[in-house]
Amino acid sequence: MTPNTPVVARTRIELRDGREGLDGGRVAVVMTMGALHDGHATLIRTARERAEHVIVTIFLNPLQFGPKEDLSRYPRTFDADMEICTREGVDLVFAPTPDVIYPDGDPGVRISAGPLGDVLEGQSRPGHFDGVLTVVGKLLHLTGADCAFFGQKDAQQLLLIRRMAQDLDFPVEIVSVATVRESDGLAMSSRNTYLTEADRETALCLSRALRAGAEAAPEGPSAIRRAARAVLVREPLALIDYLVLVHPHTLNDVPEWYRGEALLAVAGRVGTTRLIDNAPVLVGPGGGALEVFSDVPAVRP
Ligand code: PAF
Repeated sequence: MTPNTPVVARTRIELRDGREGLDGGRVAVVMTMGALHDGHATLIRTARERAEHVIVTIFLNPLQFGPKEDLSRYPRTFDADMEICTREGVDLVFAPTPDVIYPDGDPGVRISAGPLGDVLEGQSRPGHFDGVLTVVGKLLHLTGADCAFFGQKDAQQLLLIRRMAQDLDFPVEIVSVATVRESDGLAMSSRNTYLTEADRETALCLSRALRAGAEAAPEGPSAIRRAARAVLVREPLALIDYLVLVHPHTLNDVPEWYRGEALLAVAGRVGTTRLIDNAPVLVGPGGGALEVFSDVPAVRP
């Protein structure tokens, strides 16, 4: 049977009408900036397993891009995105323009990510996470979703969205989904389309470093950092911004005595493209790579 093309809503009224047309049951949202790939398809598939209806939002949010970042060259592939949404059985696609989301221009009041938004990615991209949380908050309100699915690939974003939902009492379940990788280990990302063939080869050092780090997990934090760094230094064309082993809740470096779950995260520039990747790891005897962190905080009743 040919799957139905999802309803496309461009305005708030069309979204409300489309939302009202969903006949009962839990509604999930998968938020995207378009340029969908297999990582997004996996988020949608996971959402379909956990909810009766799935809304996908496609919105290239200007608020989360710095003035020198890649907003103007970010891939826009709406027709291909719709093919993926159709194939994956999405019910409703919300694809607004910026004036629908920000009718009065850039909002004066925004959701602040606080100190966790100033480290790692936030250090290189000031204001980025305030822009992310503001749009995620708005899209949660507009879609009225019961649960929202985000990839572990953007670990800091995921942590901050969880914190926002908890700290500001959003009545939504935030679900994390493991990073989807190409067969050679490269984490899927819409920005991978910027990579030349040579860049792509260079970029593999990120996932290799994470793998090497995770393999050293039984030996403790300094062994993990050392093993990962040893891979990165062999690839001078990757300009590494940071390689850290941090606590998954605080993003503070874990001390040498630490045993338990930690986030091994790396970011760097390859050619003209900034890439990030991470591996959740269990540090200590029997440790190694994890798919996602085990302690998913419950929604408050
Ligand atoms: O991860 C992304 O694609 C974006 O940051 C998000 C969550 C859709 C908000 O614009």
